[in-house]
Amino acid sequence: MSGDNKDRKNTGGRPLSRRGFLAGAGIGAGLGAAGAVGADRFLGPRDGEPAGDGDSQTVPFNGEHQSGITTAQQERMYFVALDVATDSRDELRDLLRTWTVMARRMSQGLEAEPDGSVGVDRNAVATDTGEAVGLRPARLTVTVGFGPSLFDDRFGLAAARPEELEDLPHFAGDQINEEISRGDLCIQACADDPQVAVHAARVLTKAGSGLVTVKWAQLGFGRTASTSITQGTPRNLFGFKDGTANLKNEYTNLINEHVWVHDGSWMDGGSYLCARRIRMLLENWDRQTRREQEEVFGRTKDEGAPIGREHEEDPMPFNEWHGTDGPLIPAHAHSRLASAPANDGARMLRRGYNFVGGVDEYGHLDAGLFFIAFVASPRDDFIAVQSNLSHHDNMNEFVRYESSAIFACPPGLVDDDDWWGRGLFERAT
Ligand code: HEM
Repeated sequence: MSGDNKDRKNTGGRPLSRRGFLAGAGIGAGLGAAGAVGADRFLGPRDGEPAGDGDSQTVPFNGEHQSGITTAQQERMYFVALDVATDSRDELRDLLRTWTVMARRMSQGLEAEPDGSVGVDRNAVATDTGEAVGLRPARLTVTVGFGPSLFDDRFGLAAARPEELEDLPHFAGDQINEEISRGDLCIQACADDPQVAVHAARVLTKAGSGLVTVKWAQLGFGRTASTSITQGTPRNLFGFKDGTANLKNEYTNLINEHVWVHDGSWMDGGSYLCARRIRMLLENWDRQTRREQEEVFGRTKDEGAPIGREHEEDPMPFNEWHGTDGPLIPAHAHSRLASAPANDGARMLRRGYNFVGGVDEYGHLDAGLFFIAFVASPRDDFIAVQSNLSHHDNMNEFVRYESSAIFACPPGLVDDDDWWGRGLFERAT
């Protein structure tokens, strides 16, 4: 069952409109907290205009943890990695404050600032680029992270760098392109409408003009995981169900142990985002028989069930043998090598997306999976698994790891005055 279906169920089969949701919740009037004076323009469909098929639900912005991590995964993503161009700690801090205010508004279905887009004074330059006017909020979440390089000597943050916030190591077989790797900051914008996601990151980038530059960006068009038991399992570009054994937000104990940081520092309540752009060599993959493909993952292509089992949710029979032919689940199957028992109990919350970036110089699809995992400990929950996969995974013949990045995503925002990084900037003096 998709998230959309679930929402329709909760609203008596009829999707709420963005405007209806906000009016019903009494949201809107108090949002002048953004500091600007002017009309609050809801971005949803205007009166008399068709509502379209978008999902009208909004995701709470404030909370113990940032949204966009355990939030039921949206269908689309736009991810931007930025470098900071200023050396001024105060300018960086003020930008993070501005971003928080703008993102809070956009995630509630408002322009980034009152009268900030199509209604701006004709002689003024708009703050909000305007392409989300008329669109639903589409469950927009904006999640921000800090890369290891932000903790160099520019901003006086070096002493506050968490020990685990280090560039990911080079893994066996990596063919990393530095131009699409790393970054001082990241913005992960997720929504059920790609234009809403792109708009949010674009407006924040524009607000940072002169202070930050975009290093690289990635658009993801279809989720490759589910992060809630209410969601169905989507398929990746290999045609396999992806996300079956993922951590789900309902597994509170496992999420607390493997996703949220508990260290008493400014990162307490935050999470580490590990990103890998993984090119999938689809022309090669598409020539394999179904049996060969299933042995790469250790799961069937139709149901996504473990080989030798019928249902997707059946436990993996890691210890069963196929007569004398060897283990039922091949020794180097992706699911076996990535599983918790094969990695000292390591687990992660996967939240990746499919991508297609055109064709390469040989006419092959430049397509793959933009892998994102959120973990409490990069060392124990991610690097251990990636090392195991990089050395032994049956899938390696069909993929190429092209980029690598890690970001520390600070905890959530306690109230409307809170801002991303407040704990970091207030503690690191
Ligand atoms: C193109 C890249 C990848 C593809 C197509 C892919 C696909 C899959 C598929 C089809 C499954 C089985 C269904 C499921 O449980 O979700 C799976 C499981 C899994 N994958 Fe991947 N994956 C990729 C990369 C990665 C990477 C880079 C990691 C971590 C470093 C990873 C970690 C996992 C984990 C933890 C599981 C669950 C294993 C279990 O407990 O059964 N995957 N993946």
